[in-house]
Amino acid sequence: MLPKAAAIDETPNRSTAAAGIAAPAVRVESVSKAYGDIEAIRRADFAVAEGEFLSILGPSGCGKSTLLMMVAGLLGPSSGRVVIGERLVDGPRADIGVVFQSPVLLPWRTVMENVMLPVEMQHLPREAHVRRARELLAVTHLEEFANRLPRELSGGMRQRVSICRALVIDPRILLMDEPFSALDAITRDEMGQELLRLWQIHRKTVIFVTHSIREAAFLSDRVIVMGRRPATIVADVRIDLPRPRALSIEETEPFNRYVRTLRQAIEANHAH
Ligand SMILES: Nc1ncnc2c1ncn2[C@@H]1O[C@H](COP(=O)(O)OP(=O)(O)O)[C@@H](O)[C@H]1O
Ligand SMILES: [Mg+2]
Repeated sequence: MLPKAAAIDETPNRSTAAAGIAAPAVRVESVSKAYGDIEAIRRADFAVAEGEFLSILGPSGCGKSTLLMMVAGLLGPSSGRVVIGERLVDGPRADIGVVFQSPVLLPWRTVMENVMLPVEMQHLPREAHVRRARELLAVTHLEEFANRLPRELSGGMRQRVSICRALVIDPRILLMDEPFSALDAITRDEMGQELLRLWQIHRKTVIFVTHSIREAAFLSDRVIVMGRRPATIVADVRIDLPRPRALSIEETEPFNRYVRTLRQAIEANHAH
């Protein structure tokens, strides 16, 4: 195991330094995953650049969560490997923030106490992080709710709390698994815009899982399309739309061209 890890440390550094390109933040290398005899993912291969907003788009059941949980180190691949920075992912890491489909807040803790949870779990300095938590609650319009309990909040507000919680430790990488899919369409649009605003400020590397073509096109620098099981990557599309993006961009022809491209990639795979 050790010699293998050492080899990972060396190679990307040399080659990318020579080319003058920043090393990718995340590399998924020929990753496959089987659950018993169900083959969920077949040889997924992609890299995510530092600061890039990447979406993984595909129909439900195609293996998106499986892939994301392997990047998070919460699930081990059957074969292949995930490398973050220069390190092989072999378990959960402190420098990754994860936002799940449902916000999973602790019901007996206030909003502020929920946001501070990772700080406590990782024994990080409290003062500095309370300040950061306040800032995050302010930009997500939750300032006045810091001392409320989750049950006093709407679904959208709870999901914003879980985003604050993922960001409070200033993770290098933010992984989001269909974080807005339980929300109504209007709230969902608002949350998307808020997420982009946060991303514009903090510039994390983001991997965002969604089954919504428009959501992927609106948010992302790049969209990876996954086909049906066993899932492979069927398209990799760069979304070259200007930023910051307002919702009105969805009415433009370039936006809708991307939507068509993504839809065709999904449908082409369906036909097989
Ligand atoms: N723990 C598990 N045990 C067995 N099969 C699983 C498990 N988790 C997911 N699967 C199967 O793997 C496939 C991909 O699931 P998942 O990654 O959740 O897809 P998605 O997130 O795209 O909806 C599905 O067919 C699902 O039934
Ligand atoms: Mg899923």
